[in-house]
Amino acid sequence: MTRRRQAPAAPGALWTLITGSPEDTEAIGEQLGRLLRPGDVVALDGELGGGKTTLVRGLVRGLGRDPAQVKSPTFVLVREYPPARQAPDAPLIVHVDAYRLQGAAAAMALDLEWLMNPRTITIVEWAERIADALPEARIAMRLDYVQAARRRLSLLPGGRAAAVADALPAAGSASDAADAGGADASAGD
Ligand SMILES: Nc1ncnc2c1ncn2[C@@H]1O[C@H](COP(=O)(O)OP(=O)(O)OP(=O)(O)O)[C@@H](O)[C@H]1O
Ligand SMILES: [Mg+2]
Repeated sequence: MTRRRQAPAAPGALWTLITGSPEDTEAIGEQLGRLLRPGDVVALDGELGGGKTTLVRGLVRGLGRDPAQVKSPTFVLVREYPPARQAPDAPLIVHVDAYRLQGAAAAMALDLEWLMNPRTITIVEWAERIADALPEARIAMRLDYVQAARRRLSLLPGGRAAAVADALPAAGSASDAADAGGADASAGD
């Protein structure tokens, strides 16, 4: 990969925010993580290096787990983050990286149906690759490259996305989203 072009805003996004650093993206992930409930499926898409795994670190932190457990799972398709000892009833977090998968059959080999049980929070990177195997009601976010340290996060409609978008900061709240040029958070009031 040599040059990268700025991706257009995700059409139909419910909520959009441009982050100015990996820490900002992780912080948004943490806020989103606090809003997640058992049974939620979070579907993350966007190009290589878009910030999906960075966001997952924040999600895991927001859910009260150690984000250091989260590694870019290049060779590992599924990681599990169990509840902390002091909160044994918290949901299991399942982190899937579908980069190497293609289609529902491949996803079934992962036993995703079992993983996506109502007591589990499932987070999928490269979710579009196994979209047929995922429930319709999912919280879908795109992370697009804008500039070296800037990424556009877009929450797409579906599942509990609208409720979640209402509780996330409006565009401009993360550091220097000022010249976001089209960052148009419609959530929040
Ligand atoms: N605003 C930002 N948000 C997130 N990551 C950023 C940002 N700016 C720079 N980065 C860098 O971009 C990279 C994002 O990598 P990350 O592994 O999170 O992406 P990914 O979408 O999971 O990639 P892959 O598709 O390979 O799994 C990291 O090196 C991170 O430091
Ligand atoms: Mg990743």
